[in-house]
Amino acid sequence: MTIRPILIHPDPRLKKVCDPVSNVDANIRKLADDMLETMYDAPGVGLAAPQIGVMSRIFVIDTSDKEAPADPMVLINPEITWESEELNTHEEGCLSIPEMYEEVTRPKQVRMAYLDVDGKPQEREFDALAATAVQHELDHLNGILFIDHISRLKRTMITNKMKKLKKELARD
Ligand code: NI
Repeated sequence: MTIRPILIHPDPRLKKVCDPVSNVDANIRKLADDMLETMYDAPGVGLAAPQIGVMSRIFVIDTSDKEAPADPMVLINPEITWESEELNTHEEGCLSIPEMYEEVTRPKQVRMAYLDVDGKPQEREFDALAATAVQHELDHLNGILFIDHISRLKRTMITNKMKKLKKELARD
């Protein structure tokens, strides 16, 4: 397993719609392993392929409690098949927008269909934090960041901070 560098916003690769995975093969399983390793190392509760510059429809999450055993999940070609009318507001952050947190409102529950790492179709319902996480990660596969759900003013402020951070990182 390899820890891959995480792209920081703004980056054109974070604004693109990713391609479906046509074949869940050894390369995809290696990618999923690397993504999980990278996510746990960061640490974060979710990571989407475009965040490491791979433009494929795959993301990983682990929303288990810190004290609980790890519960890694890999979702390939995920699609929302149902969402609740009830909404939920949750503070979100993103490994590509480090140390910035804003409240985002989304459906409280969603059902998602996807392929697992064995290429088998699965469907599962997500609630609360897990629902927020899977919707946030699915957005990444469509070139959408959580800051696209907040006011333009806040988005501009955060983007300017990230531009400054990237300059500082480039200097080191
Ligand atoms: Ni994110």
